[in-house]
Amino acid sequence: MATKLGPVLVTGANSGIGLASVLHFAARGWDTWGTVRSADKAEVLATAANDAGVGAHVHPVVLDVSDHDEIVARWPDLPAFHAVVNNAGYSELGAVEEVTAERARRQLDVNLVTPAVIASCALPAMRARRAGRIVNVSSIAGRAAILPMNAWYHASKFGLEAMSDVLRMEVAGFGVQVVVIQPGFFKTGIEPRASAQAAERSTHTDSPYQRAYARMRTTAELIAKVAPPPDLVARTIVHAVETRRPLKRYLVGADALTLAATTPFVPRAVTDTVLRFTADLRGDRRPAGS
Ligand SMILES: NC(=O)c1ccc[n+]([C@@H]2O[C@H](COP(=O)([O-])OP(=O)(O)OC[C@H]3O[C@@H](n4cnc5c(N)ncnc54)[C@H](OP(=O)(O)O)[C@@H]3O)[C@@H](O)[C@H]2O)c1
Repeated sequence: MATKLGPVLVTGANSGIGLASVLHFAARGWDTWGTVRSADKAEVLATAANDAGVGAHVHPVVLDVSDHDEIVARWPDLPAFHAVVNNAGYSELGAVEEVTAERARRQLDVNLVTPAVIASCALPAMRARRAGRIVNVSSIAGRAAILPMNAWYHASKFGLEAMSDVLRMEVAGFGVQVVVIQPGFFKTGIEPRASAQAAERSTHTDSPYQRAYARMRTTAELIAKVAPPPDLVARTIVHAVETRRPLKRYLVGADALTLAATTPFVPRAVTDTVLRFTADLRGDRRPAGS
């Protein structure tokens, strides 16, 4: 049944949620294309697919989706997709005061603008067939701003949520459905990268946030130890493409469900106090000017 609907595309397919999604799609019989940023990463994807016995259904594409002009230029070489899964993303760690404008723009470019560019490229064929799915991988971080030192990641995911809501209204009349996935914490490549960024920043002795970066590092390491593998997210993504009537949003993971259920009822002042304490953001306790 699945193959009749046409192929699917997953961005950021060499690691974490993207890799798990490609393997789940392929195991369900979908002809699955996955973007990666280098030939070596294409090899990683191809090997994982072969090891899982689904190599024939998996097509790695070397395409850096952070380059919007490249996406547009390369799109005519790709098949008409039934579904695109905007998964590629990362977390730019740093206090608002210390993240440069260039790094902030890059975070928004990759996590927010890229999904819009991919959707723009995929939509003409979807509209022509009066069918298609656009799945945007957001986060619980797109629902509640709860992670100090992650303002730009939050901003990118809140933006992705808003863009997805508007896009859903714009394209529903053409038979195209837009779905948002909101995972909690899962064990992927994202936490080690965040932890390494925090470790690097925690060496900056002149930073007023040095203690918070050190705390961030230990927190990220702890999360990486206890977080579950990304298979549940991958299965949810495949379900969002296969089901006849997808939900607008899928919360994934016990932590995401708990946070979504509780945060609306906790006064923001309480949230701020608890999170500042947890993140070791108690500020400079020396007298002013000393
Ligand atoms: N893991 C979680 O706990 C969690 C929770 C909520 C949401 N998410 C979201 O899930 C998505 C997938 O992340 P993941 O957790 O699976 O992390 P991951 O294992 O690090 O995978 C991220 C993927 O995105 C690609 N990517 C990262 N930065 C990129 C850039 N600047 N330009 C182009 N591609 C880039 C990576 O390619 P390279 O290997 O080439 O860098 C990789 O293929 C992200 O959108 C993330 O925000 C993750």
